[in-house]
Amino acid sequence: MARRKKKAFPHKAILGIEALSVDDVRYIIDTARNLRSVFKRRRIKKTPALQGRTVLNLFLEPSTRTRVSFELAEKRLSADIINIAAASSAIVKGESIFDTGRTLLAMSPDLIVIRHKMGGSPHFLHKHLEIPVINAGDGINQHPTQALLDLLSILDRIDTVEGKTITIVGDIKHSRVARSNVLLLKKMGAKVRLCGPPTLLQPEYATLGGEIFYDLKQAVEGAHVVMMLRVQLERMKMGYFPTTNEYRRLYCFTAKHLKLARKNALVMHPGPMNRWVEIEPEVADSENSLILDQVANGISIRMALLYLLLGEKG
Ligand code: CP
Repeated sequence: MARRKKKAFPHKAILGIEALSVDDVRYIIDTARNLRSVFKRRRIKKTPALQGRTVLNLFLEPSTRTRVSFELAEKRLSADIINIAAASSAIVKGESIFDTGRTLLAMSPDLIVIRHKMGGSPHFLHKHLEIPVINAGDGINQHPTQALLDLLSILDRIDTVEGKTITIVGDIKHSRVARSNVLLLKKMGAKVRLCGPPTLLQPEYATLGGEIFYDLKQAVEGAHVVMMLRVQLERMKMGYFPTTNEYRRLYCFTAKHLKLARKNALVMHPGPMNRWVEIEPEVADSENSLILDQVANGISIRMALLYLLLGEKG
């Protein structure tokens, strides 16, 4: 990798968006872009930056994009990797997250990446085990690496989000992606609109900093970016809408809605998508769509975070 003078990164963990300053966010985005451009030029996509470092990927909830991109990012930086999934771990025998963490710590990893259904579990591990931790999604709380890769994907197409209107639509209530994105986009100066059924978007969500809409057409009118969210049925203990058809009728983003947004508006979805429920395939696969850019940028952002937290720190 090209030798650049590395600025100090003042964090030992990435647990949520709040702790990051605007400068930190710019530094992460710049680092991700530098790493991306270096790897684009290389036939062999590997650098020794994290050689001799061990990263433990503790994925205790299902994941495709986040898990695979963390693993690829770690491999590209030459880290040693241990992958642990819920079904094949002692957690199914009832071991607590604390004991699992302490057990794994005894094997001297340098950093833990954790996805867990309980909000706050990455914070708990970081506090009690005193080890660098990256939150790969904790319950309905936050998904900071997703918000950072979303921002990179937007900034690859438009110079700044400052003053731009970004509409986030769907199951806001259960969405860690929405929470991290609102916090990050507001921090970077965007105007954020939130839209969804009233049962999945209570007025108190305005305290996150977004303007509340219940009508999709109004919410997307003049928007520069529309970010659709997955309906998280697995987190719903009761019916939040009468039928899937009813949800689709009111909140599925279609080509007609896209016409109401700005010309060349960007369309996003963190995945996995429920086509026809949250988004029409015609829109998801259109030139406006950043969905596959989001997936690809996941590797760059996660490489950047691993490098900033662990690289060249001795
Ligand atoms: N966006 C996201 O977190 O996807 P996965 O659940 O596949 O990791």
